[in-house]
Amino acid sequence: MSNTGAKPAGVQDEASAAQAVQAMFNSIAPRYDLLNHVLSANIDRLWWRRAARRFRDVLAQPEAAILDICCGTGDMTMALLKYRPQNACPILAADFARAMLRRGAEKFAGRTPGKPVAIALEADALHLPLRGSSMDLVVSAFGFRNLANYDAGLREFHRVLKPGGRLGILDFSEPGGALGKLYAVYFRRVLPSIGRAITGQVSPYQYLPESVGNFPEPPRMLAMMRAAGYAECAWQPYTFGIAGLYTARLPIQPNS
Ligand SMILES: C[S@@+](CC[C@H](N)C(=O)[O-])C[C@H]1O[C@@H](n2cnc3c(N)ncnc32)[C@H](O)[C@@H]1O
Repeated sequence: MSNTGAKPAGVQDEASAAQAVQAMFNSIAPRYDLLNHVLSANIDRLWWRRAARRFRDVLAQPEAAILDICCGTGDMTMALLKYRPQNACPILAADFARAMLRRGAEKFAGRTPGKPVAIALEADALHLPLRGSSMDLVVSAFGFRNLANYDAGLREFHRVLKPGGRLGILDFSEPGGALGKLYAVYFRRVLPSIGRAITGQVSPYQYLPESVGNFPEPPRMLAMMRAAGYAECAWQPYTFGIAGLYTARLPIQPNS
């Protein structure tokens, strides 16, 4: 099995890793938003907003084609929508866990009743039902880390982006130093207990710290992005490096 992809406990290959991730998110969907806000003390809202602000120049273009992949219950999409002008074309919000996506669709419908501001699309990030070179911006918040194959994910985003198109991947990371040690206690011991108490489930909140531990550190992730053909690859740490935003752009000319 590839060593660059999510590995929920007990899975042997990429197909079963993807199935386990999909089943896990479908099962926690009813409590996902509540837990997110409790476990992050609402800092998650700041992270989504900050990531969206980074792309406000693209978002301000009414015709820009935007994909929020692994959108889950839609909070990243909602943050992106704040920078969309009136009459902008809808954002595509895609996820393969139907129960998560359904909650997102409800939020989008409530924002401007009668006018689609975002379209919920059930789709696998590694096999997007989109034409090549069709997107101006692909964003993923806390989803990329869950893909069964990170290189395949980067290749698929590359395929759907237009030349010059932008990529944003917001995800957790493991801070270093004394703060990192303290945070590790919270993340690996306290957080799984709170998650278990609220959802009654054990594995998703064991999987979360394990998946962050398994996720490439920023220098390696940046090297993977460059190897996949992205330019201007950068990582901006958020909140002492607990999370961070990877950004990149597709070259206008291949190999430029
Ligand atoms: C931690 S949630 C993040 C949701 C949302 N973006 C947020 O910031 O709250 C990760 C999401 O990624 C989705 N996901 C994981 N692998 C996927 C894949 N291969 N294709 C589509 N969605 C995927 C899961 O179903 C889940 O909804």
